Amino acid sequence: MAAPGLLSHSGGLIWHAKAWRRHATLWADFCLRIERFLIDWIHALPQQRNEEGRLSGIILLGPSGGWCLPKAGFLKHFQSVVMVDSDPSAKTIFYRRHQVRLHPEQDWIWIPSSFEQALPALLARYPRHAVLFCNVLGQLRYQDSLPLERIEFELNQIKFLLSGRHWASFHDRISGEARHAQSAEFEFSSPSVVQTAMLAKRVASQGEWLDHLTENVLPPQADRRLLHWPISLTRLHWVEAGWVS
Ligand SMILES: C[S@@+](CC[C@H](N)C(=O)[O-])C[C@H]1O[C@@H](n2cnc3c(N)ncnc32)[C@H](O)[C@@H]1O
Repeated sequence: MAAPGLLSHSGGLIWHAKAWRRHATLWADFCLRIERFLIDWIHALPQQRNEEGRLSGIILLGPSGGWCLPKAGFLKHFQSVVMVDSDPSAKTIFYRRHQVRLHPEQDWIWIPSSFEQALPALLARYPRHAVLFCNVLGQLRYQDSLPLERIEFELNQIKFLLSGRHWASFHDRISGEARHAQSAEFEFSSPSVVQTAMLAKRVASQGEWLDHLTENVLPPQADRRLLHWPISLTRLHWVEAGWVS
């Protein structure tokens, strides 16, 4: 699939300018919910640690500048952090925000690529690393000229590629006009698939919603939660977050 560049919808300078303005204000509640999700996931991972008390490693796909990832705590659990993002401006921002240079005792690798190209080789190279899709899968529908059915098919295959691996994803499910939400979070216990039509009905009875084609990214056995993300004053995303172990 085509990768986003400096000015794309999914990443790039416009995205960073918006994220810089909003992450501590309009997005603050969403970012806290992501932090809680990631802490819960850490507890669900096998706890075998090295001498420094760290898990072996993590592959972050689409981390961008790490605007919605917790600045303290989460990444320090991993000895090796491998990041893959196709946005050429993201690495500098991520390294600065997460103070990567202050932590030379960890191994940091940034790969400027689309994850579709990089992931198979990374899975072979790092057989014990956990994998986290960082709000990237719901963006694939924007990226290129493939038919939507094909994009959805490829999204549905990811769980097979990751079979036997500890992995998690938070991704857009639907987005639409901002409106008052009765709740900022819903939880669903496994086994469950949250159908898009049911979700749209539950969170808003009227208005048009864009389907991000991610209904079947997570397998039914994954616990999941749906998080409210007011991306701007006029637009709202519902983001699904879940893990597989
Ligand atoms: C919505 S942003 C993610 C935000 C990020 N989680 C944060 O905390 O700042 C989506 C990111 O995914 C990246 N991206 C989009 N498609 C990609 C692909 N196919 N492979 C790798 N990265 C991709 C974009 O460059 C962008 O940085």
